[in-house]
Amino acid sequence: MNILVINGPNLNMLGIREPDIYGKETYNSLVEKIENYANEKNIGIKCYQSNHEGDLVDVIQFAYGLYDGIVINPGAYTHTSIAILDALKAVSIPAVEVHISDVDSREEFRKISYVRQACFETISGKGTDGYLLAIDALIKKATE
Ligand code: DQA
Repeated sequence: MNILVINGPNLNMLGIREPDIYGKETYNSLVEKIENYANEKNIGIKCYQSNHEGDLVDVIQFAYGLYDGIVINPGAYTHTSIAILDALKAVSIPAVEVHISDVDSREEFRKISYVRQACFETISGKGTDGYLLAIDALIKKATE
């Protein structure tokens, strides 16, 4: 099984960015944590991050035929991007939406998620462990 983990804008700033909300772990250590977990589970993993909406659409399209699952934290594009929603629908790869913070207990605008429509599960407010829970959810889904 091959999983693509996609992180959107400002997630490269983890550790620096609002640590009271997003924690002190850096993006690089998050990638290491995800890769170690995937290795333990014998899963192929690729982590990708971009601050650009079109790049996120491109990488989702690129995943078609290559990846069996997508873990996506679209950052602020969660709340605005129909293009990312459409890309996920277009490739139709099982996808899980992840948010480090609990988006439903923050500002009103964070309660809206466009990508959610194309994801079979949302994991929010579990910190960076949410990415590992998303991998588990994709493994479980693949065996159903
Ligand atoms: C986020 C929540 C979003 O509202 C925010 O714009 C982010 C990060 C999270 O992981 O909690 O960039 O997706």
